[in-house]
Amino acid sequence: MKILAIETSCDETSVAILNGDDVTHVTASQIDVHRITGGIVPEVAAREHVQVMIPIIKEIMQKTVLIPDDIDRIAVTSGPGLITSLMVGVETARTLAYSWNKPLFSINHIEGHIAANFIGNPDIEFPAVALVVSGGHTELLFVPKPGTYELIGATRDDAAGECFDKCARILGLDYPGGPEISKLAAKGDSTIHHLPSPMLDSDNSDFSFSGLKTAVLYFHRDNPDAKLEDVCASIENAIVNVLVAKTKKALKVHGAKSLLVGGGVAANSALRTELENLNANIYIPAPEFCTDNAAMIAAACRFHEQPTDLFSFKANPNWELTPR
Ligand code: KG4
Ligand code: ZN
Repeated sequence: MKILAIETSCDETSVAILNGDDVTHVTASQIDVHRITGGIVPEVAAREHVQVMIPIIKEIMQKTVLIPDDIDRIAVTSGPGLITSLMVGVETARTLAYSWNKPLFSINHIEGHIAANFIGNPDIEFPAVALVVSGGHTELLFVPKPGTYELIGATRDDAAGECFDKCARILGLDYPGGPEISKLAAKGDSTIHHLPSPMLDSDNSDFSFSGLKTAVLYFHRDNPDAKLEDVCASIENAIVNVLVAKTKKALKVHGAKSLLVGGGVAANSALRTELENLNANIYIPAPEFCTDNAAMIAAACRFHEQPTDLFSFKANPNWELTPR
């Protein structure tokens, strides 16, 4: 089955064709544009999506040497995400599905991050736990079988990636902050022990990262000469600690055989190293499939049997995979 997928939920315009486990994707990053403003301006992101969308669809069809007749399904991220960004992908997918006469599948972005692990890994053992850590989400989910999800815990305020990005901004580092903090952290030591790993010892599986951001703000104000590499290592350590501790607990409580990790923060090498020490079969996509990409949307499409109604479906910026 050949699936053409489109992902535009945030600031990457991505199209992919998944043919069995053979994946081709073209992803146009907007990072250089958003670096100027130190973060994403939704209106600007949507305009960028519009400009590159048709050229990258043309590019992927040329790259894969496929014609519209070869495509079996069209899949698109319809939420959660930035509404104006989502609408560019949704309307493009609707138009293609209508003009090419293909079934259209509406895919949840979080399901996509989890499904990225299934590319090249058909034999994942269940039950599994999924950890999705991105700029917009920090969630632990129980996955009893492919395509079925139950929420275990989520962030109560900022997402882990958002915390990386906001701390980086406080420290005067470039956007996106996660990779910048990670690069500096590799050259430093986690010496600032009073930066909190919020909710580390709480009974539930929820997270909170806004307290860490505030602690970094005050620490930086009071210690402007502190070694930046050590500050970054301490921030990274505080975030990684709590993600790993809660994941470890969830694996145990749910008797999970596998851990499926996804989202941009899963590209973080300290987090990857710590997670790989846990007692389960650990799946973490290659970094290019951790950050937003359409290949993961095509992979999630394989869990679905029923296409969506071409004319009535809409982008849903608040679509929760598993409502609380
Ligand atoms: O999944 P993603 O591409 O977009 C969302 O769905 O949000 O995740 C982007 C987030 C950003 O906050 C970025 O700073 C973070 O992932 N990120 C990282 C790393 N690479 C990307 N955070 C920590 N370490 C990294 N290496
Ligand atoms: Zn994402």
